[in-house]
Amino acid sequence: MRFETLSARGGRTDDYLGAISVPIFQTSTYRAGGEFSYTRCQNPTRKELEHTIAALEEGAYGFAFSSGLAAVSSVFSLLKAGDHVLVSDDLYGGTYRLIREIWSHFGIEFTFADLREPELAEAHIRPETKLIFAETPTNPMMRVIPLARLAMLAAEHGALLAVDNTFLTPYFQKPLTLGADVVLHSGTKFLSGHHDTVCGFAVTSSPELAEKLSLVGRTLGNFASPFDSWLALRGIQTLPVRMEKHASNALAAATFLETHPRVQQVFYPGLPSHPSYKLMQKQTTGAGGVLSFLLKDDGAEKVLHSGMLICCAESLGGTTSLITYPQKQTHASVPKDVRERIGITPRLLRLSVGLEHIEDILEDLGRMLSRK
Ligand SMILES: Cc1ncc(COP(=O)(O)O)c(C=O)c1O
Repeated sequence: MRFETLSARGGRTDDYLGAISVPIFQTSTYRAGGEFSYTRCQNPTRKELEHTIAALEEGAYGFAFSSGLAAVSSVFSLLKAGDHVLVSDDLYGGTYRLIREIWSHFGIEFTFADLREPELAEAHIRPETKLIFAETPTNPMMRVIPLARLAMLAAEHGALLAVDNTFLTPYFQKPLTLGADVVLHSGTKFLSGHHDTVCGFAVTSSPELAEKLSLVGRTLGNFASPFDSWLALRGIQTLPVRMEKHASNALAAATFLETHPRVQQVFYPGLPSHPSYKLMQKQTTGAGGVLSFLLKDDGAEKVLHSGMLICCAESLGGTTSLITYPQKQTHASVPKDVRERIGITPRLLRLSVGLEHIEDILEDLGRMLSRK
């Protein structure tokens, strides 16, 4: 089945009395002896969602978690004290905080490095390196990491490669097909797509990893609820049409910003001026709906709050265009020196381009940039 059909129809495993929309199985427990026993462990609505995301990512096993960070955490739960992880130095601030404030306290060591040149990053690999973790494009600098080369490096050193595919979704990028072992998502973003649910995903084709991830979710109790699973399933039905529109609107917004006199630089890998434009064309089928840009002056806070349509809020990937201030919002927990080294300065803004009419978006951006 083609991608559009899979997302519109879902990976249905049961007829459910002929229901066209998968029902919400709002039950905590089940009569003993059947396929299901207890909703912390399994639930039919969640199962349909998990089949769907696995099929979309071209993986064999999908797991739906209560948030993107719960999904990321499930992968770190596979490690033990003494293990080492190599992590992309530009990544979502919440993942950074999860590593620094939680997982580092369990004897797991993390090294943050620029993974754009895997051969240079190899210097950070040790015999104890069990996992390489990357986002691509990265949040918020929109750097592109060559996944096939990184997967080769991981395999050579006996480490797993986990890729956070939140920004592109499987519609534009399928990390498992490029050699990743696990794909992760904040399902809160493009996959659900309507700003109305928080959830996350992990997908793999390895039966051993799947068994461990299933144990983690059932035991930590951090799988998605039936209702959130249903909302995510509903969102996924329209993923391809939404992603096309997000991407075309984002390209138009990036092009507009690139020539605006108040803008120093635009970071969007769909622009030919992006340093990884060619790589992006090779490993993805589209550049997605998020971009960042750097102002020439210090007026970012005024710009942020003067949109009539574009709303200043955390998050991304929904119908409404959102503008975010990484240094104070999504990346506030990243230490200042690290932020500045990566490029998250007070002049950097991140824009998640929604599904509004592009002329309305551009007019609003123009209005926001006229405020000083
Ligand atoms: C790239 C990325 N990964 C993971 C997360 C965490 O997802 P959630 O907020 O669903 O826990 C986010 C949240 O913004 C994100 O942008």
